[in-house]
Amino acid sequence: MKILVLGSGGREHTFVWKLAQSEKAEKIYAAPGNSGTAEFAENVALNVDDFQGIKDLVINEGIDLVVVGPENPLVNGIHDFFEKEVELQTVAVIGPKKLAATLEGSKEFAKEFMKRHNIPTAAYSSFTSESIKAGYEFLESLTPPYVLKADGLAAGKGVLILQNLEEAKKELASMLLDSKFGNASQTVVIEEFLDGIELSCFVLTDGKDYKILPTAKDYKRIGEGDTGLNTGGMGAISPVPFADESFMKKIEDRVVKPTVRGLQQDNIPYQGFIFIGLIKVGDNPKVIEYNVRMGDPETEVVIPRIQNDFVELFQAVAQGRLGDVVLKVDKRSATTVMAVSGGYPGAYEKNKEIKGIDQVDESIVFHAGTKEQGNTVVTNGGRVLAVTSFGNSFNDALSRSYDNLKKISFEGIYYRKDIGFDL
Ligand code: AMP
Ligand code: GLY
Repeated sequence: MKILVLGSGGREHTFVWKLAQSEKAEKIYAAPGNSGTAEFAENVALNVDDFQGIKDLVINEGIDLVVVGPENPLVNGIHDFFEKEVELQTVAVIGPKKLAATLEGSKEFAKEFMKRHNIPTAAYSSFTSESIKAGYEFLESLTPPYVLKADGLAAGKGVLILQNLEEAKKELASMLLDSKFGNASQTVVIEEFLDGIELSCFVLTDGKDYKILPTAKDYKRIGEGDTGLNTGGMGAISPVPFADESFMKKIEDRVVKPTVRGLQQDNIPYQGFIFIGLIKVGDNPKVIEYNVRMGDPETEVVIPRIQNDFVELFQAVAQGRLGDVVLKVDKRSATTVMAVSGGYPGAYEKNKEIKGIDQVDESIVFHAGTKEQGNTVVTNGGRVLAVTSFGNSFNDALSRSYDNLKKISFEGIYYRKDIGFDL
């Protein structure tokens, strides 16, 4: 099998690393990839939204399977594009088609889906510039904090949580009238604030059957104690200790089953990952969002714990045979800690030489924003690398990640020292 992985983050390095362990992987390509994927794959300098360039690559190299990492090409319809092009119809694509990807591409669509299928989520209402007055009145009817969400994709920045009514009204106006998040905030979903602890549930589905993958908890804020600005994610642990058997059963019965069944009932085919963001409110799971891909850095702890051959797993998804697969999961805990560039998530510099990766032992370094420059590896993004470790407990795994992070250096390196602090 020749396989193409689309994307360039830690998630994609993890996919490439895992796929490379399969005897069925004849050759792997990554587009555009990073310095980490280059170890197992041929990097091809193509943007993930360059569908024509991807088509040419797939045809010229005889690629059989395309694994789509990030949401953008999915929401822009890469899977539909492959289905329409005659020469690409035999190529398997892991990642849903455009309509299904709307579960991530539009918060309003996702909320309507949950309402239709009785999936527990926060109460909500959505507004446009025409209905802004009703939006103000709706805010007045709620108690703080106020949760405002840009309907469309806003690179993880489109959710505002505000304590003050006047501020919430001002932000609603800025989103609807001044395009605070561009087209993404033409519609705004206002929802009930859910008070509880977050976790993520990952599902792999062929549209008919599903496998629940290991749970994970992500740490999104830049500062320790979950303070400061939101980032793509600063670290993760798997499994989530409070997601015990009875809670997982609630997630499966109330969320996962109705989601997969709902997709079938709505005639929405789905081949790929569903990443369900949840909040545990009291003893019950409520959905805060759907993503139509794996999380990053959650992938860096979830995928290493899965012991199945990933080429076989993806083939089963593509051929609708997931029901025959038995998922094998490593019982140990996995943690990852993300090292980022100084200044991230604000402005930061690139091209800083990274030293010490070769000193790491008993951990896996997944590259995110890195590239090769001559014989050195340099920083090439905000999130630079994720150090993943296993342990008998998550604390045990964490101490291994932190010991190894001490050996890695680049100018401005920062990482949170408190991943898992709230557990
Ligand atoms: P989202 O982009 O929908 O995942 O939202 C970003 C973050 O905002 C989530 O990870 C939660 O921490 C928070 N959040 C979103 N919706 C709610 C809600 N209804 N109640 C409380 N927190 C929320
Ligand atoms: N770590 C959160 C995400 O991938 O969306």
